[in-house]
Amino acid sequence: MIYQNDADNLIKVLSLYFFKGLHYSLKPEEIKQMNWENQDKFLKLTVNSELFKKYPCNRNFCVRFFKNLIQYLETGQEVHDDMYEFLCIVMNNKESEFSFHHYIIKDDLSNIVTIKETKNMVVNGTTGLKTWEAALMLSDWAVCHKEIFTNKNVLELGSGVGFTGITIAKHCSIKSMIMTDCHTEVLKTINDNILINLPEFRFKEKYNSVIYTNGEKDIGVMMLDWNNTEDLVLQFIPDIVIGADIVYDPSILQSLLNVLILMHKNNNNIDVYIASVIRNQDTFSEFLKALDTFNFKYEDLKLINNGYIDWDSSVNKSLLRINKK
Ligand SMILES: C[S@@+](CC[C@H](N)C(=O)[O-])C[C@H]1O[C@@H](n2cnc3c(N)ncnc32)[C@H](O)[C@@H]1O
Repeated sequence: MIYQNDADNLIKVLSLYFFKGLHYSLKPEEIKQMNWENQDKFLKLTVNSELFKKYPCNRNFCVRFFKNLIQYLETGQEVHDDMYEFLCIVMNNKESEFSFHHYIIKDDLSNIVTIKETKNMVVNGTTGLKTWEAALMLSDWAVCHKEIFTNKNVLELGSGVGFTGITIAKHCSIKSMIMTDCHTEVLKTINDNILINLPEFRFKEKYNSVIYTNGEKDIGVMMLDWNNTEDLVLQFIPDIVIGADIVYDPSILQSLLNVLILMHKNNNNIDVYIASVIRNQDTFSEFLKALDTFNFKYEDLKLINNGYIDWDSSVNKSLLRINKK
């Protein structure tokens, strides 16, 4: 006897695997549950949803996922026509540089942050066109510590495609969030991602930054190259500065520190939160040493997986809170 609750749970789990880009296997009793009607429900939650049609996921992953699913289903079910049709369509598509990743918040399929990004680590000379693990960690931590951001003006350094800034802007009661980067294509992609995720926000102003507002919060995008900070002082004085995966290159550490020094000249009480995956201990230790030299104190906040956003807790990581001594 098949209980619909079990089947609904299986459909949800399978949909989560799909959106999270994970591989799966189906047991014989699960294949039994995936009759035509339940396949239809799965398709409606995933590739037949309005969200997916507008913002499709990575082509190669879709091909792998659906080939695998169809192979399982063929062993015990009549396979839904839409499965074959979808597979045919995506197989005929060319892999494009950008696709959309749907990040599910707290495993709730109605709570999604959709990010236009690439799969590759470096594209057009920047690492900023994909979401990195540290962005997921920092967002997971922030959504679990919402009170820290309440009514605050937040500035993000090296935002990349904007996952962290957009997630915090969506889930915390900030006053404003300015996302910054030094690469024009990255800035354009952040702008696209704001429009995807915050369609109710209206264009407010364009001075040195593009700002959108919903009347309660502002969210914006600004060019900020750490090597060229002349305008920074006058423009925007944040209460909180955040950054994910920005301590990775020894040659940019000094410029990054210069930005922190400049910002603290305007507001000595800024809280800085920097999340890192520590790939090279020497580079990270050099950053800590430089913080000390320039009169900053830091605390390594213990990062645990809060389960709001999936991230790999096995990596060597750090979340620093940095303040002026
Ligand atoms: C590893 S990516 C991290 C992106 C994003 N924070 C994330 O975690 O997904 C590093 C980011 O720092 C930015 N960056 C590197 N050098 C920079 C500089 N001199 N000024 C401003 N941003 C810079 C890059 O453009 C890129 O977006």
